[in-house]
Amino acid sequence: AIRDKKELYFELNKKAALFYYGMLSKKEGAPAVAYFKERQLDGRCAKFYTLGYSPNSRTALLDYLKGEGYKEEDIFAAGLASKNDSGAYFDRFRNRIMFPIFNANDKAIGFGARRITEDVNPKYLNTADTLIYNKSKNLYSLNVARRSKCGEVILVEGYMDVISVVKHGIANVVATLGTALTSDQAKLLKRYFNEIIICYDSDDAGLEAKKRAIMLLRDFDIKVSVMTVEGAKDTDEFLKKYGQDRFLALINKRKSDLLYLMDIFGAKYELQINVEDRIRYVSDLLPYLAKVKNDVELDIYVEEIARRAKTGAQAIYAQLGKTRVVKG
Ligand code: CTP
Ligand code: MN
Ligand code: MN
Ligand code: MN
Ligand code: MN
Repeated sequence: AIRDKKELYFELNKKAALFYYGMLSKKEGAPAVAYFKERQLDGRCAKFYTLGYSPNSRTALLDYLKGEGYKEEDIFAAGLASKNDSGAYFDRFRNRIMFPIFNANDKAIGFGARRITEDVNPKYLNTADTLIYNKSKNLYSLNVARRSKCGEVILVEGYMDVISVVKHGIANVVATLGTALTSDQAKLLKRYFNEIIICYDSDDAGLEAKKRAIMLLRDFDIKVSVMTVEGAKDTDEFLKKYGQDRFLALINKRKSDLLYLMDIFGAKYELQINVEDRIRYVSDLLPYLAKVKNDVELDIYVEEIARRAKTGAQAIYAQLGKTRVVKG
């Protein structure tokens, strides 16, 4: 039955995680150990997250799991093997750092796998969707974050970001699994937390992802705020450069989603003098204003935007009305 298959795939992913973890104390694991050292991942991190190494061999994991009595078809269906044109199975993950992904109930469901040399592509190879793994319905480290007893959760981009944050004593942090935030993930977060603090990378992709996440989360009636890892490309780099205290200060300085957007859009424009810029500033913010359900909250933002663009609240409400009509 489906239930038994699921249990079997959980078991296979768990066995695989322990196999990869075990490689760290073997000769084959030396490249991974060197890589961990370079990235300041110590033995405690590796143990806590069962990080590991997939050996540079075609069938190391398959051989091991077959030796334990599992069938190739099941190993394949669990997401751990690939199949070539002639039907031969081989390990999906080779010569990569392995990040096991657990569901909220601590079951191993899949892997993120990072290259250890720059000449290999892609940078991250992930488990393809299986009966137990769906990248849009899970979050990295949710099993840890949900037990932190914190109302807020920090949402970062990657595995390395999560691990860095947790290493610095902050457990309420999760990452998406190589996709933009989805509705299913928003629902999952809402089940455990009452505020989501977006802490994405400092590049343009990170900025676009922040804007999309705000739009999505606004539909779920959950408080959203944003922090910016200024001076670093991402959270992991920020913590390594500036340390825990500066990171905690960033958390405390976080801005509510709309105030954050008012600031970043404001920085693009000359709001003091340029009339077209002032008009564009308001237009840029309208789609977000359209998501605000509480009238008092909306009024506070409208007044503030009016002040910054040197226009009237009534004019913004009028524009907003048109936006709403256009959008149905
Ligand atoms: N990602 C992915 N596939 C890629 C690149 C990225 O699935 N080819 C996902 C991974 O989950 C990764 C996250 O997107 O952790 C963030 O990507 P990126 O910022 O490029 O990498 P980092 O997490 O910063 O990784 P690292 O620090 O190891 O370079
Ligand atoms: Mn807290
Ligand atoms: Mn990134
Ligand atoms: Mn990054
Ligand atoms: Mn990084």
